Amino acid sequence: MLKQILGQGRQAADAALEQLLPPANQHPKSIHQAMRHSVFAGGKRLRPILCMEAGRMIAAASGVHSRDRSNTGSLPAGIEQVGAALEMLHTYSLIHDDLPALDNDDLRRGRPTCHKAFGEAIAILAGDALQTQAYEVLAQISCSAEARVAIIREAAHATGTIDGMIGGQVVDLEAEHTKPDLATLEYIHRSKTAALITASVVSGGIYAGATASDIAHLRTYGQSIGLAFQIVDDVLDLTQTSEQLGKTAGKDAAAEKTTYPALFGIEESLRKADALVDQACAQLDPFGESATTLKELARFLAKRKS
Ligand code: IPE
Ligand code: IPE
Ligand code: MG
Ligand code: MG
Ligand code: MG
Repeated sequence: MLKQILGQGRQAADAALEQLLPPANQHPKSIHQAMRHSVFAGGKRLRPILCMEAGRMIAAASGVHSRDRSNTGSLPAGIEQVGAALEMLHTYSLIHDDLPALDNDDLRRGRPTCHKAFGEAIAILAGDALQTQAYEVLAQISCSAEARVAIIREAAHATGTIDGMIGGQVVDLEAEHTKPDLATLEYIHRSKTAALITASVVSGGIYAGATASDIAHLRTYGQSIGLAFQIVDDVLDLTQTSEQLGKTAGKDAAAEKTTYPALFGIEESLRKADALVDQACAQLDPFGESATTLKELARFLAKRKS
């Protein structure tokens, strides 16, 4: 069942991305080729899938069959475009994360990183371009104007400097080669990774007409799975090979990054990730059976091997 959701979600996200990104032969070709090189390199598409499944859950829980707790609902029409925009923002963050000035990585999603394939200047611009493209897409999604503006604000704040992705990346870099402390570690992980994951879940909910109380539950769920997600990313960096990950393994220790395993060790880090997943799932209890997929996704994120 979850395998099917992951496969279908991936397909829906890929089809929307294909349609929403400029074609590779569009002038000026180099930038469009670079954007597509990184987007279509085989990411898991977890942010679009979380967005779409949050939308499905809210539609099911608030629909005409809301008393039917077994109703798992269908995807709100056009929600894959929201997911695609979030994936553009995520891919922009990866392209810049890999630049020599940041993590200096050669391998991403099983391919040479954007700057290795296209040079640093085009890679910087490809990241910028994916960001602007994401907002052009979000400006045109099929929901009420209020919902559209709320989603744009969620995405912008989650990738910004105050408790958002850029803020987290700044502290991640500034904390290299320092003694890890829990407050800094939590700030980095919640900001650089959990914020966009949270925005993905919340945006899907807003698109589907979530109430303020629904959004509060989705936000807490997103914050918990987002933190668990980055804890697991840190563990996999230590335990998996570059081939398994599609990105260079062992980079965090080499750069003396502030990570969960650096502070707590692998076993304790995984226990913390599991506890966060339990907390996340508890947040969705009010949604009954319609929350089954988001709960399964939470458990999958903690157990993944890449
Ligand atoms: C990697 O994200 C970067 C982090 C925020 C940890 P993913 O593990 O979701 O990477 P892709 O999208 O599948 O390549
Ligand atoms: C990156 O964290 C989070 C982003 C905002 C891109 P990492 O630096 O740990 O991500 P990977 O391991 O390179 O994918
Ligand atoms: Mg990094
Ligand atoms: Mg990195
Ligand atoms: Mg990592």
